[in-house]
Amino acid sequence: MSINDFIKQLDTLVESAAEQFNSAIEKLDKDILENARIEFLGAKSGKLKSAQKGLGKVEKADKPVAGKKFNEVKQKLEGLFQAAIEQIEKSRSSTEVKEQFDVTLPGTRISTGHVHPITQTIEELKDITGRLGFTAVEGPEIEDDWHNFEALNISLEHPARDPLDNFYLQTAEKNTGKDNLLRSQTSTVQIRVMEDTKPPVRIVSLGRVYRPDEVDATHYAMFHQIEGLMIDTDVTMADLKSVLLLFAKTYLGDDVEIRFRPSFFPFTEPSVEVDMRWRGIWLEFGGAGMVDPNVLRSVGYDPEEVSGFAFGLGVERLCMGRHGINDIRYLYDNNVRFLSQF
Ligand code: PHE
Repeated sequence: MSINDFIKQLDTLVESAAEQFNSAIEKLDKDILENARIEFLGAKSGKLKSAQKGLGKVEKADKPVAGKKFNEVKQKLEGLFQAAIEQIEKSRSSTEVKEQFDVTLPGTRISTGHVHPITQTIEELKDITGRLGFTAVEGPEIEDDWHNFEALNISLEHPARDPLDNFYLQTAEKNTGKDNLLRSQTSTVQIRVMEDTKPPVRIVSLGRVYRPDEVDATHYAMFHQIEGLMIDTDVTMADLKSVLLLFAKTYLGDDVEIRFRPSFFPFTEPSVEVDMRWRGIWLEFGGAGMVDPNVLRSVGYDPEEVSGFAFGLGVERLCMGRHGINDIRYLYDNNVRFLSQF
């Protein structure tokens, strides 16, 4: 066999093998590819195997060239076969994915986060009191003795300063009047505002307060208050009641009733507890009263010229009353199944 015939025979072999591999690729048919592999690369009677016999028949001088050519062709065929398998598998897996995708199915909604129920309540309370003419202000959560006690008419011996009822900071010098603490009430902000402003004043302050209460369904060591303060000439209890009634009706609904029960706070005189009757039940929402003359004096106001009322209500209670939540801990457990309902 001449070397030229040998080479030609191998080239034709490559051509027809490539043709069959390609048609297998086109049809994405692994069986066709496997048959082609057996036909050309089969170990026993494959076409390449038979072509190998030609090697023995070429002139001795041509043998190196013929051997080299044979090896090249063998590698080429194996390479083509490997590439064909990979291509079939790749296209198959991508069409399988395509087939699984049903464009008529409704989409899945991406769940976006939302504002915590307490924050929602705070925003709404600000909105309601804003419409009643009260400006929202903020104060610090770490307070000094003056703003949390002294200026609010809570003297050094007063039991409200008990370390069991307050979160004093570790640096506090107990009962020296220099104690810093986490504020136990938002009434601190009344003082801060009056120190900085001349009457008339009409503000609300909404924020966190801290008390070392044992945690149960109605108590938490941190909660929120809404504090209101109105100072002007001739402000009376009647104004306090009207504002709170309007406030309660707007927040809880027209059928709500409110009642005052006599009470005591060092910073108001007279003082009352504020209850609201809602869906047939009387609920306690906080305290209120006419600002004590001592408090007015401590911020440099003249009690002969101005008077005012203050109230402090629990934000959690308002939120729980409105939504029928019966355990304050739900609000702070961070359970998505609870929170996502609001
Ligand atoms: N600061 C009082 C409390 O935390 C509530 C209150 C505020 C009472 C303003 C009267 C006036 O219980």
